[in-house]
Amino acid sequence: MKRDILSILDLTHNELEEVIDIAGDLKKKRKRDEDHPLLAKKTLGMIFEKASTRTRISFEVGMFELGGHALFLNPGDLQLGRGEEMRDTARVLSRYLSAIMIRAFHHRTIEELARHATVPVINGLSDREHPCQILADIMTMKEYYGDVSDLTVAWIGDGNNVCNSLILSSARTGYEIRVATPERYAPPAAVLAAANAAGARITRASTPREALADADVIYTDTWISMGTETERDARIAAFSGYTVDEVLLEAASPDAIVMHCLPAHRGEEITDAVIEGQKSVVWDQAENRLHAQKALLVKLLKK
Ligand code: CP
Ligand code: NVA
Repeated sequence: MKRDILSILDLTHNELEEVIDIAGDLKKKRKRDEDHPLLAKKTLGMIFEKASTRTRISFEVGMFELGGHALFLNPGDLQLGRGEEMRDTARVLSRYLSAIMIRAFHHRTIEELARHATVPVINGLSDREHPCQILADIMTMKEYYGDVSDLTVAWIGDGNNVCNSLILSSARTGYEIRVATPERYAPPAAVLAAANAAGARITRASTPREALADADVIYTDTWISMGTETERDARIAAFSGYTVDEVLLEAASPDAIVMHCLPAHRGEEITDAVIEGQKSVVWDQAENRLHAQKALLVKLLKK
């Protein structure tokens, strides 16, 4: 049966561990310049409704390095952009491709694609989740801390797609996720309910300072996700006090690391000094997208 990865919960704890182990192995092999054409003759279609640097390039380079091929598909250049239905597109693409990765505005678009595709579908970011990002993030946390099950991860900012996947993955990794958001931008109740039902350890903090006290990982992301640009002024006002800056970091543990999925907006959710500072691991995170993506593709496509 084909496997879709629409949510980080679509991987079990053991599968998540396996993917991250494969990613670590592929990272070492790449440093030694070893060939590993595990996906020769496999093809990945990549549909992007929104912009991307890391997701697009890590998947495309990843497929190339594994001996396969990736196709960038702009919906505007497909018949999809002229009204061909997603279910028809799904069936046709499934006749050509080994897997489909899609970045979409609405999670339901990805669900519709997955329902009708007969090859694996991977969520490359939706309004609800960003599971591929979180794979690379867990890999990065493991590189810094080893075991992640006893970590405390503080989320400071918008209760958005990245935050949702980080919350849900607590149910797979065991870490505690402590969330500080303005009330209006709290994670959706449905996500919190799903995470709780799956066994996540979630706490809500009333201020950013409370969230990061004793935290091992401090994570933030843009206040204005793709698709919410018209709300910019209201959001900038609502997130006043949520900037991860050096003053806020004085309340953090000296060993804490700072994460950001990127792209960053220096002076908004994070300062230049913090992203360029000693605690920042954001470039490792970005690199690990490549290794994690490759590992996920191997897990889904290698016989
Ligand atoms: N973090 C992330 O997904 O980056 P892109 O939007 O550049 O793909
Ligand atoms: N939350 C951001 C993540 C970008 C990778 C967005 O959805 O735009």
